[in-house]
Amino acid sequence: MGAKEGKETSMEVATERRLTGEEIVALSRKHTIFEWSAQSKVEPIPVARAEGIYFWTPEGKRFIDFNSQLMCVNVGHGDRRVVEAIQRQAAQLAYANPFMATEPRARLGAKLAEIAPGDIDVFFFTNGGAESVENAIKIARSVTGRHKILARYRSYHGGTAGAMTLTGDPRRWANEPGLAGVVHVLDPYHGIERGWDTAEQSLAMLDEVIQLEGPGTIAAFILEPVTGTNGILIPPDGYLKGVRDLCTRHGILMVCDEVMSGFGRTGEWFAVNHWNVVPDLLTMAKGLTSAYVPLGAVGMRREIAERFRDKPFPGGLTYNSHPLACAAALATIAVYEEDDLIANAKRMGEVMRNIHLDLEERHPSVGATRSIGLFGIVELVRDPRTKQPLAPFNGTSEEMMALGRFFRQEGLYTFLRWHSFFFIPPLTITEKEMREAFAIIDRGLEITDQAVGAG
Ligand SMILES: Cc1ncc(COP(=O)(O)O)c(C=O)c1O
Repeated sequence: MGAKEGKETSMEVATERRLTGEEIVALSRKHTIFEWSAQSKVEPIPVARAEGIYFWTPEGKRFIDFNSQLMCVNVGHGDRRVVEAIQRQAAQLAYANPFMATEPRARLGAKLAEIAPGDIDVFFFTNGGAESVENAIKIARSVTGRHKILARYRSYHGGTAGAMTLTGDPRRWANEPGLAGVVHVLDPYHGIERGWDTAEQSLAMLDEVIQLEGPGTIAAFILEPVTGTNGILIPPDGYLKGVRDLCTRHGILMVCDEVMSGFGRTGEWFAVNHWNVVPDLLTMAKGLTSAYVPLGAVGMRREIAERFRDKPFPGGLTYNSHPLACAAALATIAVYEEDDLIANAKRMGEVMRNIHLDLEERHPSVGATRSIGLFGIVELVRDPRTKQPLAPFNGTSEEMMALGRFFRQEGLYTFLRWHSFFFIPPLTITEKEMREAFAIIDRGLEITDQAVGAG
């Protein structure tokens, strides 16, 4: 049978005109797979263009991007400086073999060494977050000669085999069994009903797990210093420093996954800076290029990099140190600096915090809000007294679906997950734009407020 027999393929795609939103959705659903979803349930928004904090459908419906698409377009959409840097690099040298040395690679390594915390000043470039995590695992195992990796339950580290095993949230379940030697530990946060442990309680639990597993078998402990999709979990003061001390004491590498929290998202270049902690390895992606081109990196302290002076580095990728991506990263970092976006994230983070407090006061369904910089979340509840969430763990509810429909109808794009929704706009956001988004959210919460006390 011919390869195309029985298939309708490109014949159905009009070539002489732009596709309508409806056609884009229909063809995308027919011929492409949407991630993490039952394909019959996806209802994608067709996106034709984007600028600043907004994006548009082909028919011109405008959305506020209150999630920086997938928590990554930190400098906002369509920044000419990044676009032109990519265009210039494409014209000059679009690709070089990773054994070559190029100017964008050289400059980006040096620039990251300047902004990364402490003595992290050597970088291995990848195509994104998950690959950075994979390489962090390899580095940790190679450097320590140990095999176990500790990770936390309320975490996401990426969709590839190793990163998926480290991931603690339910996305891991369908991918098991994964990498051998991964042990999960509990976080200081136990969900809205049970709340927080103190730093001391959480560190004691971690210390106990380390003892029980055998400190000499553990290569690394990986954690998001401020957890992203699993709830914008800001650690209690003392926690990260305590983790640092425990890792140092036992010769375990501390790996901070800042794929989402890095590059100004929390109001600092990196989240660990809030607590003056320097991990041994630092994974990054997303905001590194603001996603204009895919790029990830693992940063390592000089003493770790020294271990590969005579011993081969145990990893490689065809697109390692891709010139287009390195050029995009350099231009993106220049935008953060020129426009003082990290200070803006801090400043607008304060505005967001106050709006959150106001929402907490006026909406009984708002059970908790948390934010640091422009990294924020609202947890919704059915009962303000017991804090019963408005949707179950790993599930949804009529009310959450109605809220999602309302936001979409009103042109607000944000990320809804279980009983929560996120506030992760581009770092360029102004107070006026922030208030425009909150006016929609305020009205949306009237829907969820009706669930309170309704059983
Ligand atoms: C903390 C963290 N690590 C790793 C990843 C995986 O990154 P990527 O999707 O670029 O592979 C993500 C993605 O959301 C993330 O949030």
